Amino acid sequence: MSEYLSELSTAKKAAAEAAEMIRRYQVSNDFTVNFKGKNDIVTDADLKVEELILSIIANSYPEDQVLAEESSELSKLQDGRTWIVDPIDGTTNFAHGFPVYCVSIALWEDHKPKMGLVLEVESNERYAAIAGKGAYLNGDPIRVSELNNPKNALIGTGFPYNDMDLVGNYLDFLRELMENTQGIRRPGAASYDLCCVARGCFDGFYEYSLSPWDVGAAALIVQEAGGVVTDWSGTDHWLFGERIVAGNPEVHQFLLEGIGEYFEEPELSS
Ligand code: IPD
Ligand code: CA
Ligand code: CA
Repeated sequence: MSEYLSELSTAKKAAAEAAEMIRRYQVSNDFTVNFKGKNDIVTDADLKVEELILSIIANSYPEDQVLAEESSELSKLQDGRTWIVDPIDGTTNFAHGFPVYCVSIALWEDHKPKMGLVLEVESNERYAAIAGKGAYLNGDPIRVSELNNPKNALIGTGFPYNDMDLVGNYLDFLRELMENTQGIRRPGAASYDLCCVARGCFDGFYEYSLSPWDVGAAALIVQEAGGVVTDWSGTDHWLFGERIVAGNPEVHQFLLEGIGEYFEEPELSS
């Protein structure tokens, strides 16, 4: 069997069962909301869904390491294999019943992404990639857009919600994009934003204050769809770098240059 196919099928099974559980919570509206920090919420659904996903992974791959949002402390990847899990990406949307929230599961090996799966729960859109094997939406191949004039680009982003240090720079750049692109969208789940880049409905995406579980799966899906993913300095330290920019090659370059202009160097390296 081709490399990482059985890991992908474990991820598909885990995501499908997780999505079922999330839907039950959503339909019954029977979950409690707690605060991890300002505007940073967690529900009991996040915790139970993460438990379910980790048990399915451990059942097939008991030796592998795990980096999961609600239960892991890892601040960097070790050598070897690590599953990176966000049980609900878009918890604020989930808690309000707004329909964009995803299960995100990745497998990294020796510091490189090997498999990524993102399942949007309400639509059941399932995005998947294995390194070197392309990117797929519900089994059909996807590619980033071919648009090369930023004036016609649709850009995804995430609004700052608890780290307000760069909000002035953020708003200035947002204004620049409002005036010079076709539009801006903020779906509320970074994994989904990146998948929108992968399938070509967004031409680019940028956000700061992200975590490895937000991007670990979906950034591979962008790369495998022909897109470019970097941190805001243009390097490939985007997993733990918190600041990510992605797009088709032209729009990625356009966004990276704008970020360089609107967010000054000392801020980029802090
Ligand atoms: C959040 C979502 C959101 C992004 C936040 C993330 P969570 O993840 O991806 O779009 O703006 O930065 O923390 O907390 O819902 O898993
Ligand atoms: Ca997340
Ligand atoms: Ca989450």
